[in-house]
Amino acid sequence: MLKGKKILLGVCGSIAAYKSALLIRLLVKADCDVKVVMTSSAKSFITPLTLSTLSKNPVVSSFEKDDQGQWENHVELGLWADLMILAPASANSIAKMAHGLCDNLLMATYLSAKCPVMIAPAMDLDMYKHPSTCTNLKTLQSYGHQVLDAEHGELASGLIGEGRMAEPEELFNHITAHFSKKKRFEGQRVLITAGPTYEKIDPVRFIGNHSSGKMGLALAHAMADEGAQVQLIAGPGNYELVTDAISLIQVSSADEMYEAVAKSYDETNIAIFAAAVADYKPVSQAVEKIKKAGQSMTIELVKNKDIAAEMGKRKGTHQINVGFALETEKEEQYAKEKMSKKNFDLIVLNSLNDNGAGFSVDTNKITIFSVDQKPKYFELKSKQKVANDILNCIHEKIQS
Ligand code: CTP
Repeated sequence: MLKGKKILLGVCGSIAAYKSALLIRLLVKADCDVKVVMTSSAKSFITPLTLSTLSKNPVVSSFEKDDQGQWENHVELGLWADLMILAPASANSIAKMAHGLCDNLLMATYLSAKCPVMIAPAMDLDMYKHPSTCTNLKTLQSYGHQVLDAEHGELASGLIGEGRMAEPEELFNHITAHFSKKKRFEGQRVLITAGPTYEKIDPVRFIGNHSSGKMGLALAHAMADEGAQVQLIAGPGNYELVTDAISLIQVSSADEMYEAVAKSYDETNIAIFAAAVADYKPVSQAVEKIKKAGQSMTIELVKNKDIAAEMGKRKGTHQINVGFALETEKEEQYAKEKMSKKNFDLIVLNSLNDNGAGFSVDTNKITIFSVDQKPKYFELKSKQKVANDILNCIHEKIQS
């Protein structure tokens, strides 16, 4: 599986650097070609001689080749690799990568690399939990890099907590999974609705909701990662796309979302309705800002089109529709009723009674109902991991 794969290992200054020797052994045993770039502080933790002996390649760490007056070509190294992994990645290097700082050979190589990048952080627990490190790691994820979460355990400081670099065997498994990953949605056209809708009252006011669009965005990236061509139709919000495989149409109101979905739906194989669409809109929108008058005010509302239900009526045999239900009571009953009313094949239930689930947060806890299978209950996890669970169920559905 890994035979002949070119792996570029970046080693930063951290006590976990000793584990990179074990990772190299596993990779070399699997017939990978491994080259190592170290920062100069990494040399205080493990010697280049150890790593070059294990990798069977020279280890580099500075822009000048030792004693030869020659330049070390980081561009060539960056282009050579099939995969770059920084293990251990220190808080300092993570910060530099997030901001494009380039004061050593490892950072120059990283900035030149065109291959996928994995990052295995290692640091003390407070550094790992510091808002700046969390933001930097999120930034690196937004560049499309895979962050291999640090583990909980005893740290070099003697403290116990999260920050230990993942074990070499686990890093090796991630690398193997990366190269063996079959793109399950290759050639599929996927339509995803996301975010809130804003229903205009007058030029400055609207009826909206707290949806952030994060779940829809995570689904779009997960689908694109698995080979799908994704059409993301999203209400107001920020949608940072890290791939060309997603094309974004931004809309504001439910009517605009309906129009955009109706145009693309027939060419779609899989439609995921993750948007929190406003059920009602004002009967009329004032042209000028409404001025304050009497003690109370009434806005007459009229029902919006139900986008998912309308597409459910149009659904052909080659199509799968997936819905969402956010409920506060009788969760299972309401979710199942929505599934049948809107002709969904699967429905993803979030309960606002679960801590960490719902709008704006980065985590979610879901149950997936299917028309012909038992419900699947999932733990609280990041929206990225939830997106993968949803993809697994959609894939199962296609296969069944
Ligand atoms: N949905 C939609 N268009 C609408 C309303 C909802 O496409 N106008 C979709 C949502 O994206 C979601 C599913 O329908 O996939 C269920 O949405 P939800 O708001 O929970 O259901 P409603 O039918 O609006 O029911 P209620 O608000 O009464 O719970």
